Amino acid sequence: MNTDEIKKKLTGKLKHKRYEHTIGVAYTAAALAMCYDPALMDKALRAGLLHDCAKYMTDDEYLSFCKIHDIKLSQAELAEPGLIHAKAGVYIAANEYEETDTSVLEAIRWHTTGKPDMSLLEKIVFTADYIEPARDHLENLPDIRRLAFEDLDMCIVKIYEHTLSYINSSGKALDEITTEAYTFYRKKCCDR
Ligand SMILES: [Fe+2]
Ligand SMILES: [Fe+2]
Repeated sequence: MNTDEIKKKLTGKLKHKRYEHTIGVAYTAAALAMCYDPALMDKALRAGLLHDCAKYMTDDEYLSFCKIHDIKLSQAELAEPGLIHAKAGVYIAANEYEETDTSVLEAIRWHTTGKPDMSLLEKIVFTADYIEPARDHLENLPDIRRLAFEDLDMCIVKIYEHTLSYINSSGKALDEITTEAYTFYRKKCCDR
C-alpha cells in the first residue's frame, strides 16, 4: 500500500484526534530521518503512519484480539491493555496495510516502551511519538524537541525520565523493558 492508501484507510479507523497525531508522528519521523539518515525517510513515514494503527480498540477488544491471533502478553500488558496496541499494530500493519518491511514492523512493535539498543528507525519513531507538534504533555517540550535533532540518544533519556516519573506518580503498570531501556540509554550517554 502506498502512503495515500494508508492515510485513506486510517481515516476510516482512527478518531480524528488520533489521526492528527498519526500524521504528526509520520512527518516528524520523516524529518528526524532527514537529519540522521535520509535513506530511512520512506520507512520512517510508513512506520509513523502505522504506529498507532491498532489504537481504536477497548481493553477487552485488545485482550480478545490477542487471544484470537495467539499474541503473547507481558504482565504489564495484561494490567494495562492499552499497551497492547503496539503488538496488535504489528499484526494489523502486516495483514491489513500490507506492510512487509521487518524494520518498519519492529519500529511499530517498540514505539510505546522502546527497548535497549534500538535501531535508528525504532529510535526515530519512539521519539517522534513524543515530540510531534500536537503533543503537549511533556515538560520542557521545546528543549526536548530541539534535542531530538541534536542528540537523539540524550533526547531518549529525557523522554524516559519523564515517562518513569509519570508512571510512578500515576500508579500505572510499568513494563520492565522501560526501566532496562532507560538504564541502557543513560549509561550510553554517560559513557561517552
Ligand atoms: Fe502508540
Ligand atoms: Fe502514538
